[in-house]
Formats: sequence, structure tokens, C-alpha cells
Amino acid sequence: MQQFGVIGLSVMGKNLALNVRNHGFSVSGYSIDKPEIDALAKYEDDKLKPCYTLEEFVNSLEKPRKILIQIMAGAPVDETLHKLLPLLDKGDIVIDGGNSNYHDTNRRYHEMEKHGIHFIGMGVSGGEEGALNGPALMPGGDEEAYKEVAPILEAIAAKNKEGKSCVSYMGPEGAGHYVKMVHNGIEYAIMQEFSEVYSLLRDVAHKSDDEMSEIFDKWNHSVVQAYLSEITSKVLKQKDDLTSDNIIDHILNVASYKGTGNWTLEDGVALGAPVTVIAEAVMARFMSKQTHLALESDIKPTEFKYEGEIPEDLVDEFGKTLQLAQAVAYAQGFQELTMAAKAYNWDLRYKSIAQGWEAGCIIRSAMLKDIENAYSNGKKLTNLFEDGYFRKLMEDNLPSLRKSVEFATKAGVPTPTLSAALNYLESIFNPKLPANMIQGQRDYFGAHTYLRNDRKGTFHTEWYEEK
Ligand code: 6PG
Repeated sequence: MQQFGVIGLSVMGKNLALNVRNHGFSVSGYSIDKPEIDALAKYEDDKLKPCYTLEEFVNSLEKPRKILIQIMAGAPVDETLHKLLPLLDKGDIVIDGGNSNYHDTNRRYHEMEKHGIHFIGMGVSGGEEGALNGPALMPGGDEEAYKEVAPILEAIAAKNKEGKSCVSYMGPEGAGHYVKMVHNGIEYAIMQEFSEVYSLLRDVAHKSDDEMSEIFDKWNHSVVQAYLSEITSKVLKQKDDLTSDNIIDHILNVASYKGTGNWTLEDGVALGAPVTVIAEAVMARFMSKQTHLALESDIKPTEFKYEGEIPEDLVDEFGKTLQLAQAVAYAQGFQELTMAAKAYNWDLRYKSIAQGWEAGCIIRSAMLKDIENAYSNGKKLTNLFEDGYFRKLMEDNLPSLRKSVEFATKAGVPTPTLSAALNYLESIFNPKLPANMIQGQRDYFGAHTYLRNDRKGTFHTEWYEEK
């Protein structure tokens, strides 16, 4: 009898199945796509069993069954559950490892619960390579069921610098997929920040692709030790197969998306979370498409060129800018998580979430250790910048961020997320935000009332005389 089963054997499912097998557990694999089963069959041995029917797959598993569904999010997951359900026994555990919307996971969790099936919605980050060699895993659902699968998940997950597995129980219902959704919102934000710093290096500091590659590589060993620094450096130096140029100069500048970042923004708005950098990152992807469409017509392109003096240390300022902007992206993600935990009555464990993102996932970076420290000892932070380390980082690097945005403005280089990060930092501890004017206007035209800063109670002013 096999200890674990995987449904869906495209590259993620196949690699996760191989990862489970490589860690000494026996695994069965099934897919509705026969060529995918044939591809897995090449690795067949006493620990890895390809199955050609769902019945054969289910019957090959020891009870309680532990089944990972690794397929496209959305309707296919419901269809698979529908086919699977009559074949399962009470107490079996089904894990959805796709990028499912947490609302769907909440619903599926309760539907499966009615049938005595434990449903775990699990975020999986790290792409194809991570799936094979160690992804970051974010499982949520029934904690007792999680404990049953924990030995396998802990074995296959990435390990942080201290050797701890990048997996822990996130919370009930769709909490695991919620945490993955926020991970992706942060991913969109940091990717856009990197892109903007790339455009500053290119269009303000006039660096070549190869020079920029070296700069990002240097930052990867200093101010921004992050997977995204590493791959940005590699993307910049990659040569094109078709021309002798660097490939980056031939990639069309229109960003695609499957939308998990958009969901982070949607839920942030529903919660009232000020996720401004995530919002700008989502909008920047939309903007890239609209700009492209505009340029397809006869519109004359705008050309901005910065000809002014470039300070000696400008590149270092950009590095510090990226470091602080990255912190803002994380801070906004954690702020949304904090607000979600309260609104949905989930006990999210921020320290474990940070620790779980330290390796394996796309947003992994050395800074996550500082975030883990900030949330250690059960510290309750409404904002990451309340923590001493991040407050100091803000004070130290804010002049660089301001200078980068200033140079971007002079050069006509759009920096939506860097500017949003600056505005966010200038707002969070600012006692003089002008919302008093909003309240005055609301009370003026709609008698919506206001609070005062000098006495308790709700007030309304007779702003004009009725005639
Ligand atoms: C990850 C990634 C992964 C996927 C993104 C891409 O953590 O491994 O987030 O899940 O590559 O969903 O998202 P977009 O297509 O929306 O950019």
C-alpha cells in the first residue's frame, strides 16, 4: 500500500510526487491526461506507482488516505472532488495544492467535512524546481489532519538556514490558501519594485544590461539578499538565442497575470487594509497592457531623458531604496494578514509564516529572518515598522527612497510602487494626515458627523443656513 497519492501530474504534480518518493515515502500518481501518467511511469519502482484509473489510484493507498490534488485552480478542483468523493472513506485527507481562491477553499472545507473527509487547502510556492527540491508549503484546514500529513510535508519542504522545514499549520478553513494569496500579492509588489529600480538604473543612471546584472548580483550579497535579486541578475545577463543581444531587450514589456495578486488587493480593499504597494503593482501590470495598446495606434510615444548630473552614489541609493521598498511590501502583506485574522477569526501565526517563507518560495530573502524576529515571542504588531529593527531601517533608508523618487520624477520615469512605498512610510506614523478635511467635507454635504481631537462624542456642524 502506498503512503501518499498525487492527482494531476503536470510538471508541479510530477515533481512533488518525485520529491515525496525521493524522501523515502511510497507514492501513487494519477492524472486524467494519459501522457502525463506515461511520463511518470518512466520513474516507476517499488516506491512510485503510476495508476491509470482513479479507482486503481484510490485503492492503492493506505488508510487514512493522503491525497494531494495538484491541478489547475477553479472548476477542475470541484470536478475532481466530485469524482473522488464516492471512492473515499471517512477520515481520508485530501489536500488541494493549487493556487485556489480561499473562498473556494472555505466552501470545499465545509462540504468535505459533511462527508467526514478532512480537506487541507495548501499554498505551494517555488515553481517547478521548488516542487522537486523543496517548496515552501502553506497548509490550512483541520489541524489534526495536518498532523497526519506533517511528516511527509516536513520532509519534502525547503529548509531554512537553521534547517527548519518551510511548512507549518497556517490556520483553519482556507487560511493556507489565504496566506499563499498574500504571498503572491507581496510577490507582485516586490517584482514591480525590482522592475522600477531596473528602469532607474537603465534610464537615469544609464547602466548597460551587463552592468545592471552585476549590480543586482552585488545587492544579492549585501542589501537585498533575495531570490528575486538572484534571478533579476540572471535575467539581465542572459543572451538571446536569436540575436546576439541580451534577451531582456527583446522581451515585450506587457506583464501577464493569473490574478492571485489581484485577489490580495480585492481582499485588502474588503478589509480596509492600506496595501498601496500591492495595489500599484497590480495596476502596473494592467498599465503595461494599456500602454502597449495605445502605442499600437498612431500615438506619438513620450520620450523622457535625464541629462542632469548623476551623483556618484546614486546606484547605492537605489540599492537602499529597494531594500526599504521590499520591507514595505512585506509590511503591507503582514498588515493584511493581521486584519484578515481578526475579521475571519483565524489564529494566524506570523512568526511561523515568516519562517516558512525563508526558503523555497519566490519571495524568500534574508529580510524574512528579521520579520520572524519582529514577530517572535508572540509580539502583536499592527504594523511591521513598529518593530525596532524596521523602524531603524525606515529612518536610515528613507532619504534614499526619497532621492530615488525625486530622480525618477526629474527623469520622467514612472515609479508607482516606489512612490507608493514612500507615501506609505510618510503616512503610517504621521499625526497630520489631512483626513480632517475629508470629515469636514462629508459633514458639510451629508451631515455624516465627525469625531473631534479634543473631546469625546460625535459632532455635527450647521455649515450653512437654510433659506
Ligand atoms: C509561486 C508563484 C506561482 C506562480 C504565480 C504566477 O509562489 O511559486 O507565485 O504560484 O508562478 O502564481 O502568478 P502570475 O501568473 O499571476 O504572475
